[in-house]
Amino acid sequence: MNNDEKQDYDKMNWLYNAFYGDMETEQLQQLEFIENHKNLLQSYTDKEVYILDSACGNGVKAIALALNGYNVTATDISSEMVKFANEFSKKYNVSISTDVKSWSELPSVFEPQFDIVFNIGNSIVHSPNAVTRENDISSLVQVLKRKGTLVIETRNWEKILTENKRFTVYDKISYLDKEYIPMYHWKFNGIEQESEVEILFQEIWKDNHVELYENSLSFTPFTHMSLLDIMKKLGLDIIKDTFHKECDWYLIYGRKA
Ligand SMILES: C[S@@+](CC[C@H](N)C(=O)[O-])C[C@H]1O[C@@H](n2cnc3c(N)ncnc32)[C@H](O)[C@@H]1O
Repeated sequence: MNNDEKQDYDKMNWLYNAFYGDMETEQLQQLEFIENHKNLLQSYTDKEVYILDSACGNGVKAIALALNGYNVTATDISSEMVKFANEFSKKYNVSISTDVKSWSELPSVFEPQFDIVFNIGNSIVHSPNAVTRENDISSLVQVLKRKGTLVIETRNWEKILTENKRFTVYDKISYLDKEYIPMYHWKFNGIEQESEVEILFQEIWKDNHVELYENSLSFTPFTHMSLLDIMKKLGLDIIKDTFHKECDWYLIYGRKA
């Protein structure tokens, strides 16, 4: 993997800015993500708990963890995203360690040193096929300590493919003095088939002028069962799995023996 190549997410900071740009420190500290993983976070009782966010994006979740006192390393394949995470951590005056790294590169830079590895916000779907997905998840497991937990959070691709919607619209967001309307245009090719989503983002100015930002991302949908099988095959004990047929998103916790 050559990280000097332009990555799909390099052009996505406009979206992240509008979603998270104007949060107060306290809001960030109490992000729903922290509440959702409270039991897991509190189950590690050592004085120092080491966490890797392996697809950190703009770093919002890594920074929320750091604001709660955890030692956080945040990595991502997109240098633009990591740059954004660095700026974001300065803004909130909190320290995280960052690096531009793909999942496959992690075992060559880190020891098995993390209590928790997060791969969240629907990231593993960017692994292009079942073989790379297993190798990528294996890399995440390799940097976990014994008894450490891998957290994978993903959209429910079986539900999405069954519904086969062409568009997803989101509520309008306000940021600084502009308004934004995000829309996703999906181009599915089936389970385990590389697919594409076009992300369109309308920026509405005060005088009603509209600017359009656009980007497309590739992804490869997979079934819940195949993800579970990979995690079990890699020796993880499944300690939590929120999947059900009707859910839009689910997460799986796998604990290393
Ligand atoms: C949907 S975003 C999620 C970002 C963040 N976790 C969140 O919840 O907002 C997916 C992230 O995965 C990163 N990514 C995609 N493929 C990757 C890879 N092979 N190695 C590391 N990061 C990758 C992208 O650059 C992007 O920042």
